[in-house]
Amino acid sequence: MCGIVGYIGSQEAAPILLKGLKKLEYRGYDSAGIAVHHNGIQVVKTKGRLAELEHKVQEMGGVSGFSGIGHTRWATHGAPSDINSHPHSSTNGRISVVHNGIIENYIQLKAELEEKGCRFVSETDTEVVAQLFDYYYHGDMVETLIQVIHRVRGSYALGIICSEKPDEVLAVRKDSPLLVGISKDGNYIASDIPAVLEHTKDYYLLEDNEIVVLKKDGVTILDMNKQEIKKDVYHVTWDFSAAEKGGYDHFMMKEMMEQPKAMRDSINPRITDGLVQLDEIQYTDEDIRKINRIHMIACGSAWHAGMVGKYVIEECARIPVEVDLASEFRYRNPILHPDDICIIISQSGETADTLAALREAKRQGIRVLAIVNAVGSSIARESDDVLYTWAGPEIAVATTKGYSTQVALMYLLALKFGQAKGTLSDEEVKKLVTELYTVPEKMESLLQMTKEMEELANMQAKATDVFVIGRGIDYAVALEGSLKLKEISYIHSEAYAAGELKHGTISLIEEGTPVIAIATQDSLYEKLVSNVKEVKARGAYVIALAKEGNTEIAEVADHVIYIPTVDDKFTASLDVIPLQLFSYYAAIARGCDVDMPRNLAKSVTVE
Ligand code: AGP
Ligand code: GLU
Repeated sequence: MCGIVGYIGSQEAAPILLKGLKKLEYRGYDSAGIAVHHNGIQVVKTKGRLAELEHKVQEMGGVSGFSGIGHTRWATHGAPSDINSHPHSSTNGRISVVHNGIIENYIQLKAELEEKGCRFVSETDTEVVAQLFDYYYHGDMVETLIQVIHRVRGSYALGIICSEKPDEVLAVRKDSPLLVGISKDGNYIASDIPAVLEHTKDYYLLEDNEIVVLKKDGVTILDMNKQEIKKDVYHVTWDFSAAEKGGYDHFMMKEMMEQPKAMRDSINPRITDGLVQLDEIQYTDEDIRKINRIHMIACGSAWHAGMVGKYVIEECARIPVEVDLASEFRYRNPILHPDDICIIISQSGETADTLAALREAKRQGIRVLAIVNAVGSSIARESDDVLYTWAGPEIAVATTKGYSTQVALMYLLALKFGQAKGTLSDEEVKKLVTELYTVPEKMESLLQMTKEMEELANMQAKATDVFVIGRGIDYAVALEGSLKLKEISYIHSEAYAAGELKHGTISLIEEGTPVIAIATQDSLYEKLVSNVKEVKARGAYVIALAKEGNTEIAEVADHVIYIPTVDDKFTASLDVIPLQLFSYYAAIARGCDVDMPRNLAKSVTVE
């Protein structure tokens, strides 16, 4: 996934690159490095977190120069090590490269270059770009880059510098994100906006294989025929402080606390006279009535939001919904009907598998509606219609407000589709909207449960396996709660549709095994209680989530977390809060790095 950054301007480059990398560390933290033009190119890189690179630079007494590139790595090819860290350089040190993505034909290219006498030092795919660039280079950077692009296959965002061109930083992207920040003090490239936000709010977005020549006093963008491309300038609307911790210990806690606001921002502007109005998308009621089937496609938590969507949309609008993992959908040769639509869900808008699934749907001529948080991201740009989740920047690797706002959009679509199809009367929609308006406030009250959830998490912190069970929407939330727990606390956890337990999983329940039972679907409540009794009988320690006013579940469960009452369709937004808090405190109790869990990265731009 990696984060890349580049700068050229009137200021010292190293501090700007290091600060930029700090904001991109969420994208990968296996190693970090910078390369700066300074009597040739000076490269400093090291395995481990950015702090180690900062330390190394400090020990060297700094690195001086006014242009350079930087990288924070999430390893795909070659273990995290000093030698595999980026930037990678050509053997003669003339070229240095940072890369986000995968060069799929690197083995062939490497063999070809080795035959020509080139000596490789790392195990990465990226080094091949540096060596190939140097091999083709005869004084013209752009010309060389075009030759390189013609040879490499795969995905890339590349930042390239050459010791013979100290006044230039070159960049290009294909299927990996990259933007160009512009200001009067210098120009930038970065994988994501927060890396440049301290210096500028103005930026260009890049299409595949557009070549960027960054100079101190200007940016030129060229196509593969070296024709200049004129670009619109985008302007970031949120502030630098939105990407800061704002007094909290972790981004995750800050982002959990921001959920009620993010929900209001995503829902309220889309309600007019008590009905859902989605002006941003081009769907007429007639278009909606024609929908044959919805394919909900996403990865990870976004996929879980899609699962909530399935239950709510099928219930409200009676449209069949299939929920697919993007990585499966893209290679399955999916069967799509011309009147089907795809709903693509992604916080980052850059997830490689999700983007590829989107392209597969479009290749088959299917209309694509995206639910995206990152404005102007690849998924947003390539979809026919976009509904933004107004969550603001999400930095913690474990998504919280991103997920919650995706779920909010699922509600709005369900109501809108039900409205258009007549499966919900206007009165029913208005009633549900009134109920939906109460959700953010109820989330606020649940977010005050930090003490209770901390105590509970401390009690369970030594658990080795946790099961999370539920039926219907409660099952969809169980999936998200379970992922949250394992990704940040490293406690093994499984989500199970409660009715499925006795088909195998119940054999894993032993004396004291924690089972989180979500029992907030009124219509399935009794069934769920039977499942709770089954695990209790096998010795489980049961933590139940039940609606306020429920007096009987306390007799079966060992611990009950009470959820404010709300219509069954909206329980996901409330149930998820204690599950997030539980995971957060379990991670803290186990000494884990909450915001940057091992082996993960926020934006998964490799498949
Ligand atoms: C969730 O906490 C994860 N970090 C992960 O599952 C994430 O939801 C997934 O990678 C999808 O990302 P996206 O929404 O940016 O496409
Ligand atoms: N393939 C490169 C490496 O392993 C970059 C990885 C990435 O972008 O995630 O170093």
